[in-house]
Amino acid sequence: MEKDYIIRFEEAKDYREVENLIRESFWNVYRPGCSEHYVIHVLRDDPAFVKELDFVMEQNGRLIGQNMFMKTVINADDGRDIPVLTMGPICITPELKRKGYGKALLDYSLEKAAELGFGAVLFEGNIAFYGKSGFEYARKFGIRYHDLPEGADDSFFLCRELIPGYLDKITGVYRTPEGYYVKDEDVEEFDKDFPPKEKLKMPGQIFG
Ligand SMILES: CC(C)(COP(=O)(O)OP(=O)(O)OC[C@H]1O[C@@H](n2cnc3c(N)ncnc32)[C@H](O)[C@@H]1OP(=O)(O)O)[C@@H](O)C(=O)NCCC(=O)NCCS
Repeated sequence: MEKDYIIRFEEAKDYREVENLIRESFWNVYRPGCSEHYVIHVLRDDPAFVKELDFVMEQNGRLIGQNMFMKTVINADDGRDIPVLTMGPICITPELKRKGYGKALLDYSLEKAAELGFGAVLFEGNIAFYGKSGFEYARKFGIRYHDLPEGADDSFFLCRELIPGYLDKITGVYRTPEGYYVKDEDVEEFDKDFPPKEKLKMPGQIFG
């Protein structure tokens, strides 16, 4: 792919445009409407937010993608807390999906995360996309998703080491940072400041 974009840090002047971009990208994808534009709004002020890994993708002066990371831990079975990263929201503007921009942004962000010395990234996602950037099922590393009943499908839970061998000899439970759990009523309130958009029930949505 010919490089027709730049990737740079998100700045305060971008916040609203980024929230709009996220809203457009996630709208009706996982649920009727979406919460991710509010999630990033909240997470930017969270102590676990990694400012050094808060990226936007820009094309001809317009933002077409974003990605961000949070610090969290694996509660290891031996009693230690192993520092790791989690990621997202990540998005590419709907009209430019499936052209390779998402992978380019993801790979760039992971390279920067590795350069900063982080050991591993874990999150919920689709292996069809993230597998192309080296993610595997987290269960292969002996890491379990919090609050998931024994035997439940955990194929949404992905992991990639940034330091090879970082999770060797570690088993344990991954914790989603608390900041991701936003209240529906707060999302509703926040969403009122954006242009009206119809919430639709669509096939493939995970949440009702
Ligand atoms: C997910 C997202 C960031 C991917 O970005 P993208 O630019 O569309 O992805 P790319 O073109 O770089 O995809 C690279 C490869 O990953 C795979 N892939 C990407 N999206 C996929 C999907 N939804 N389902 C299955 N495979 C997918 C494809 O194999 C693709 O290669 P191909 O187009 O040659 O088949 C983007 O589609 C998006 O913003 N989606 C809505 C928001 C979202 O779901 N974010 C992720 C939450 S975990």
